[in-house]
Amino acid sequence: MKFFIDTANLDQIKEAYDLGILDGVTTNPSLMAKEGITGKQNILDHYVNICNIAGTGDVSAEVISTDFEGIIREGHVLAELHKNIVVKVPMIKSGVKAIKYFSEHGIRTNCTLIFSPGQALLAAKAGASYISPFIGRLDDIHLDGIALIEQIVKIFNNYDFRTEILAASIRNPLHIVKCAEAGADVVTCPLPSILGLLNHPLTDAGLAQFLADHKKANG
Ligand code: E4P
Repeated sequence: MKFFIDTANLDQIKEAYDLGILDGVTTNPSLMAKEGITGKQNILDHYVNICNIAGTGDVSAEVISTDFEGIIREGHVLAELHKNIVVKVPMIKSGVKAIKYFSEHGIRTNCTLIFSPGQALLAAKAGASYISPFIGRLDDIHLDGIALIEQIVKIFNNYDFRTEILAASIRNPLHIVKCAEAGADVVTCPLPSILGLLNHPLTDAGLAQFLADHKKANG
């Protein structure tokens, strides 16, 4: 399973890459706004900065337009910024049409805001490189986000779709483990959820014991 980080914060992206386990980055307009990145040129420059940290990793950059022509125009600008940019397109009618267009023009896409298996199926049919089902936002309204991942994995396996399932809206380390069990291709996570995977009280207790025993024996 690939690990992406879900942020536009350059320090957090660097920290996750330093850990040696990161495969890519996802952003969205809310995450860009949270970092205070505003204005067309600043936004484009920020995507390039993220790509420069991400090395060979994919970086999802989201369009703001919702009409077909606007999505196409923006998608071309984003895709030309860097070879690792994946154009993030919302799951709406014009978005599906744009994903088809991009797939025929060699531009990779991530279909975002997926909340049902039917939406995932449509995006895959249109040729999306990734689809992003939002786990946490489903859990928030007492629906089962992980069950959605399981359904999509089953459907994609039935038909050998090449679209990768990118589990998004991850809220905790358990979500990551459950996505791995379900067979998601990628998880995109906030840094604390990734770092949370490191923790186990028995690891801490075991290490403290090893170090104490070494000290007793060696002075
Ligand atoms: C996905 O690409 C989105 O950026 C993200 O995972 C949404 O997460 P949230 O529900 O925590 O905002």
